[in-house]
Amino acid sequence: MTDIKEYLQRGKALVETALDRNLPREDDPPARLHQAMRVSMLAGGKRLRPILCLAAAEAVNPGADALLPALSLEILHTYSLIHDDLPAMDDDDLRRGRPTCHVEFGEATAILAGDALLTLAFELMGRCAAPPPWMPLQLVTELAQAAGSRGMIRGQMEDMQGENRSLGAEEVRSIHLHKTAALIRAAVRMGAIAAGAPPEVVDSFSVYGEKSGLAFQIMDDVLNETSTPEELGKPVKSDRDRGKSTWCGIYGVRESQRQAAELIDEAVAAVRETGLQTATLEDIARFLIQRRS
Ligand code: IPE
Ligand code: IPE
Ligand code: MG
Ligand code: MG
Repeated sequence: MTDIKEYLQRGKALVETALDRNLPREDDPPARLHQAMRVSMLAGGKRLRPILCLAAAEAVNPGADALLPALSLEILHTYSLIHDDLPAMDDDDLRRGRPTCHVEFGEATAILAGDALLTLAFELMGRCAAPPPWMPLQLVTELAQAAGSRGMIRGQMEDMQGENRSLGAEEVRSIHLHKTAALIRAAVRMGAIAAGAPPEVVDSFSVYGEKSGLAFQIMDDVLNETSTPEELGKPVKSDRDRGKSTWCGIYGVRESQRQAAELIDEAVAAVRETGLQTATLEDIARFLIQRRS
């Protein structure tokens, strides 16, 4: 576990240096918008999606360059957090250990900062063509499908429509698969594609991404019940306050943890069967459910 923690720390530092370089400067007009974008992007966060993308690329080909797809994933993820925290959505005031974007900069600026980050993610993707056997625009398509109305945004819509209703297990599963697992699955797919992996390897990585993404969101629900704002950097017990149906609400904390661990075993088995060097991906998957923040 120490090794994986070091790996994650190194990945986080690399991603943050590259983000800093690829974001508009704070004094570029409109300065307030660029400040809001930079503060939200550089406020912290585990950087798991870009790290997963880089680790997937490395597993396929240690020399592959997946930095731009990795940055796009983190930029798009951060836009989704800014919008998720808005008063019209989860109405939260703490994120990554500091006031949420709309609390610090106002609602209109937060909406625009989210819009601008989403747009920037695709601008960066416009700079990287996928290698054969993939179509040059494959990486853009992957990101768009994962983030759009059949992916992450579907999950966010179902999450909103589910407030103050008692949802069944299948409905909560669909929310989690779409709002969270879709982008995590895209992260490993995009890393593998950027490294030129054959379709059958990308399929195995997809299974890994979807299962570990689902386990990750199950643990997000568990931590919302069991952690503290200091440890988590965001509010706790907020799901219950907003009348959200969660995995823990359906199965309880212990059974949710058991199911998350089972999903991680299945995720690990899926990447192992590729025969590639997947030890790092396996360790990251295990870390996803042992995390405390
Ligand atoms: C939070 O994601 C939102 C979910 C999809 C569960 P993370 O837990 O990856 O948040 P950061 O990026 O580390 O802040
Ligand atoms: C966030 O889900 C998912 C997206 C932003 C797409 P949650 O609302 O459950 O995540 P947190 O707990 O606010 O991070
Ligand atoms: Mg939400
Ligand atoms: Mg939220």
